[in-house]
Amino acid sequence: MTQAANPDADRLLRIGVIGVGVMGSNHARVFAGLPGVELVGVADPDQKQAEFVARTLGCVAVADVEQLLALDVDAVTIAAPTHLHHDIALACIERGVHVMVEKPIASTVEEGRDIIAAAAQAGVTLMVGHVERFNPAVEAIKEAIRGEDILSIAITRVGPFPPRMSNVGVVIDLAVHDIDLIRWFTDSDIVDVQPQLSSAVAEREDIALLQFRTASGVLAHINTNWLTPFKARNVTVATRGKYVMGDLLTRQVTECFGFQPDGSYSMRHLSVGHAEPLRAELLAFVRAVRTGGTAAVTGEEGVASLEIATRCLDTRPTVAPAQHQAPRVVVG
Ligand SMILES: NC(=O)c1ccc[n+]([C@@H]2O[C@H](COP(=O)([O-])OP(=O)(O)OC[C@H]3O[C@@H](n4cnc5c(N)ncnc54)[C@H](O)[C@@H]3O)[C@@H](O)[C@H]2O)c1
Repeated sequence: MTQAANPDADRLLRIGVIGVGVMGSNHARVFAGLPGVELVGVADPDQKQAEFVARTLGCVAVADVEQLLALDVDAVTIAAPTHLHHDIALACIERGVHVMVEKPIASTVEEGRDIIAAAAQAGVTLMVGHVERFNPAVEAIKEAIRGEDILSIAITRVGPFPPRMSNVGVVIDLAVHDIDLIRWFTDSDIVDVQPQLSSAVAEREDIALLQFRTASGVLAHINTNWLTPFKARNVTVATRGKYVMGDLLTRQVTECFGFQPDGSYSMRHLSVGHAEPLRAELLAFVRAVRTGGTAAVTGEEGVASLEIATRCLDTRPTVAPAQHQAPRVVVG
């Protein structure tokens, strides 16, 4: 959404962070070092954690959203657990405070739409934390496929179980990043969803193989799980003229091109920036607040990705291990 440019564009933007666990403490750290920004306070019911972050970064620690809003903040990041995003966002927006909300935008599509409507009504900036868009490797892939006829995309996002089990599975927690990337790379909506889900260890799905077709005809695949002993985040994009491979962790991006009838081709490593994705994301948020311009990741985009993730969960029942017919162990 767009709104009128901020008349106080030169003064420090007063920012607060709500929820300073794993993600929120990083938001607070980055905001504390951004030009034109004052990290005013952090809010978290975990007093020890809030005080630790506040002490480290030199701001105020409070226990809840109301106390943070009383500090007269202009904008906040919401990095509390996802099921709280809706109520916290509405409380902030109601006071005219700009909102950066971590992904996924909310627990349900309806809640996400509520947040969008409230922000539009109040004329505040709303941005969703799909931080992977700001990964320099993703930017390099996006640049490499600009103007290309994209045919297919395959993304692998796997790793071990998170230290704390939240109340969501891999589709909402991990695949939502890649659903956003598929929409972003193709600049097209996902129209067909074919999910396969399984819960090998957790109560919710911990393995997901998701296939999609976009309105523009691109086939896409996401392989995600919490059953891999190491983290991997790989993207490959096949276009009519190129094959692009990116490792989002090591930030190596390579393209194959110049395909010849004899099967030969050329290959080159692409130059990839080194900016911290979260810093780039929060700079984009601050810019949108200051200029009143469209946020780099809008509430509508956040809801569109959540809607596809939700469809994956609604379309297929998760298969529990006991329901498998065949033996799982290969012998001999
Ligand atoms: N963009 C990404 O790559 C990324 C990565 C991890 C998490 N996230 C998102 O960030 C959010 C938080 O995830 P996390 O892994 O940091 O969780 P976390 O459990 O580490 O942190 C959540 C924090 O919120 C606090 N909290 C609970 N109730 C609160 C309330 N009412 N008000 C304020 N704070 C409250 C908790 O005490 C905790 O410190 C989730 O929405 C998650 O999906 C995004």
